[in-house]
Amino acid sequence: MERIFSGVQPTGDLHLGNYLGAIRNFVRLQDDYDCVYCVVDLHAITVWQDPDELRRSIREVTAAFIAAGIDPKKSIVFNQSRNPNHAELAWVFNCVARLGWLNRMTQFKEKAGKNRENASVGLYAYPNLMAADILAYKATHVPVGEDQKQHLELCRDIAQKFNNDYGADFFPITEPLILGEATRVMSLRDGTKKMSKSDPSKLSRINLTDGPDDIAQKIRKARTDSAPLPSEPGGFEGRPEAENLIGIYAALSDLNRDAVLSEVGGMMFADFKARLIDKAVEVLGPIGLEMQRLLGDSDYIDSVLSDGGARARAISQPILDDLYDIVGLAR
Ligand code: TRP
Repeated sequence: MERIFSGVQPTGDLHLGNYLGAIRNFVRLQDDYDCVYCVVDLHAITVWQDPDELRRSIREVTAAFIAAGIDPKKSIVFNQSRNPNHAELAWVFNCVARLGWLNRMTQFKEKAGKNRENASVGLYAYPNLMAADILAYKATHVPVGEDQKQHLELCRDIAQKFNNDYGADFFPITEPLILGEATRVMSLRDGTKKMSKSDPSKLSRINLTDGPDDIAQKIRKARTDSAPLPSEPGGFEGRPEAENLIGIYAALSDLNRDAVLSEVGGMMFADFKARLIDKAVEVLGPIGLEMQRLLGDSDYIDSVLSDGGARARAISQPILDDLYDIVGLAR
């Protein structure tokens, strides 16, 4: 079977954007692929993380995976630092990737900001570690959102260059997997900005652990305009907040936008928001509750991670052994 790899960073609270844009898709892929789902803690520390907060966050992402429907018996669920092969392969890739390639990475430029000299070397080399994540398992497919496409492209370049340099047909050229209608969830306060854990306004995002009251309050306070909803997807000109809420409703209901608009087109926001609240509570409520329950049982979560880590390493270790041999290293 073909293999999927994907990772989620344990930094801050998980929100609706993480669920609709990533985790929900992971659940669906389990039937058709061998899936490796990783809590990428080594990526997290490319920027400062409080150690206790990091420990909590690793468990939270794991709980979200399981609560959303990832079966840790079927798929592999673990945190990156449990398998040393990621870091080992990343070092080799540091020696394959070119400075010029990394200099083009837009995410580094955004994250490093103006004070580039003060960014960690890890933040700069981040895409090499991501390529190592994927290629340590020779993963053939990676579900990616818009913002990670450039990193996956780099992973393909690294695989290609490695294969060329060593005259070996060793790594696959991993394909991106774009699933259905792209769900890009925007801030509830500003429809032009992505929903983000770093937004100072708590009202801008719905966290996966929010209960029904929080969900309802945040949707009620979500920014809108005073016009009725349009009847066609072309009718959102200059109305990013309206478009975002329709996109969220569509994703939560598993419908496309056309179908949603034929149902709610012409409605005023007060009525539409009531429906959206019902739908969001129906879908997210059980996930939040299950996350809370799992988080109360950290022994179980840790046992999932430890079992997943061992299974992950059983796949990657022979691949690394072959790679060391190809490169001329010995251990
Ligand atoms: N960089 C990804 C993100 O921030 C997380 C990630 C790390 C990842 N390694 C990966 C995603 C490998 C896909 C495949 O969202």
